[in-house]
Amino acid sequence: MGGMTDSLQLSPEAQDLLFREARTANTFTDEPVTDEQIAAVYDLVKYAPTALNSQPLRVLLVRDGEPRERLLKHMADGNRDKTANAPLVAVLAADVDFHEHLPRTFPHAPAMKEAFADAAQREGVARFNATLQVGYFLLGVRAAGLAAGPMAGFDATGMDEEFFAGTSLRTLLVVNLGRPGENAFYDRLPRLEQHEVMLDA
Ligand SMILES: Cc1cc2nc3c(=O)[nH]c(=O)nc-3n(C[C@H](O)[C@H](O)[C@H](O)COP(=O)(O)O)c2cc1C
Repeated sequence: MGGMTDSLQLSPEAQDLLFREARTANTFTDEPVTDEQIAAVYDLVKYAPTALNSQPLRVLLVRDGEPRERLLKHMADGNRDKTANAPLVAVLAADVDFHEHLPRTFPHAPAMKEAFADAAQREGVARFNATLQVGYFLLGVRAAGLAAGPMAGFDATGMDEEFFAGTSLRTLLVVNLGRPGENAFYDRLPRLEQHEVMLDA
């Protein structure tokens, strides 16, 4: 297989970049996030596995100016400045009509689109799988050399009405993007130990 090495492991440096030294950024420099960087992120994130290859994640890119002002209205008070000062903000959303794409994205089972006729059932599947893709999005941002500041502190109903009225998109998470600025990181918080998390059956 092209590109595979013997060890089938990321180098320790790559592991550091993606995990051990990756931090949630609370401030950013003014350096813009380029369209090329965004394309590089998606080129990785698109490989996230999803049920039935459903790929329900949608990403609204909010640059400076009027769109940013509209977004800030819905952020929690403690989050507003962080989102105001990020070079780029992504609103990650779930498309509850993801099933429209299934004939193309899951072509060997053409009946699957009809199996998702029930909108309430679709919404649960959309939110679960899009949230899985959110995790990959954060990793993809890190792999492309950027930092992410994910934030759930906002009015989701207000956000949906502001940006997604009359559409099948539902807001999941706001993610500030850029290069870390001054005092970008809080102290690393403790992680649970393996024995607290992993149990033997
Ligand atoms: C889903 C999600 C929601 C979060 N919401 C907020 C938020 O509303 N405001 C905020 O300042 N940080 C928020 N955070 C940041 C977390 O507090 C932070 O990622 C966590 O403490 C780990 O920090 P570290 O990556 O620097 O170790 C959120 C993170 C995630 C993943």
